[in-house]
Amino acid sequence: MTRYEQLQIELNEAPKTWLVTGVAGFIGSNLLEYLLTLNQTVVGLDNFATGHQHNLDEVKAYVSHEQWQRFSFIEGDIRNLKDCQQACQGVDYVLHQAALGSVPRSINDPITTDGTNIGGFLNMLVAARDAGVASFTYAASSSTYGDHPALPKVEENIGKPLSPYAVTKYVNELYADVFAKTYGFNTIGLRYFNVFGRRQDPNGAYAAVIPKWAAAMIQGEDVFINGDGETSRDFCFIENAVQANLLAAIAAQSAKNEVYNVAVGDRTTLNDLFNALQSALAENGKPYSNAPVYREFRAGDVRHSQADVSKAESKLGYEPGYRIKEGIAKAMPWYIENVG
Ligand SMILES: NC(=O)c1ccc[n+]([C@@H]2O[C@H](COP(=O)([O-])OP(=O)(O)OC[C@H]3O[C@@H](n4cnc5c(N)ncnc54)[C@H](O)[C@@H]3O)[C@@H](O)[C@H]2O)c1
Repeated sequence: MTRYEQLQIELNEAPKTWLVTGVAGFIGSNLLEYLLTLNQTVVGLDNFATGHQHNLDEVKAYVSHEQWQRFSFIEGDIRNLKDCQQACQGVDYVLHQAALGSVPRSINDPITTDGTNIGGFLNMLVAARDAGVASFTYAASSSTYGDHPALPKVEENIGKPLSPYAVTKYVNELYADVFAKTYGFNTIGLRYFNVFGRRQDPNGAYAAVIPKWAAAMIQGEDVFINGDGETSRDFCFIENAVQANLLAAIAAQSAKNEVYNVAVGDRTTLNDLFNALQSALAENGKPYSNAPVYREFRAGDVRHSQADVSKAESKLGYEPGYRIKEGIAKAMPWYIENVG
């Protein structure tokens, strides 16, 4: 039995209370769904900046009535300390996901990104520390590797940030480390690498590449590739990210005050991604025949990204069960049903 399977049995037998911030967003709503199906009690905090009520509605429709009764939602803002304090009351495990994602958004509006991602993060640390929660896991980012050229990315070797967003995510790690040193408050940071799956928003200027392209293809529109298409990423299916969060929450003390890569260890170019999405659509009876349209590279983007996930494997028991093609196969029907 894997550590993750064992953990799910333990949680079912002795349910805990979890706080998921950013619960109306992509990753947050998937964490909510998974925790409720394990009969956990969940408090959710979100201000709907980029999250949606329909994500919560979808989880409600998926879980049983009894499971949904174990969820309480606070519409609030992590930039407001009181909201964070209210949300942390009586909580065992915090999964802090709320932030403003997107490199281009942070380039266009660094002040708002900073306020949420740094000020809001600090509020959450203080509130969770004062509430005496058993663990605090937060969404860090592969953007922290910045201009460091080495591949695959190993946690210890980071470069300089390439965007305001990357600065904020690195500052989270610095604050987390200082909270361990000054207050003995230990956390775990999960450096996500391009997570994708159901409920990732396909709309808006700041949509991530997989939902944006899937939506364009489903609607018969052109797909734009920034650069030559040889830019590469380690795409991580949402269920791998959920697994990493649950394992981090219950991790041993020796695994705390650390950051971990959360990905698969694969490298997929944008050209390969285009082909994979095209194949998945064809398999779902939605053939797409337009050629991709190439345009300029985008400012702030890292050229290549690939994770070494061995630290998460050895210290958390992480075993990513989905590679990109399996993840796309699971996610595509949702996009076909929900786009347009
Ligand atoms: N999706 C990825 O590939 C990826 C990669 C690296 C890191 N991350 C990080 O993972 C986390 C979740 O990302 P996601 O992809 O689910 O994005 P998302 O935009 O779908 O979810 C973020 C959620 O946070 C909420 N939020 C934003 N500002 C808030 C505030 N001030 N107060 C309360 N709630 C607020 C939003 O409304 C939204 O529901 C973020 O911290 C993001 O930076 C994501």
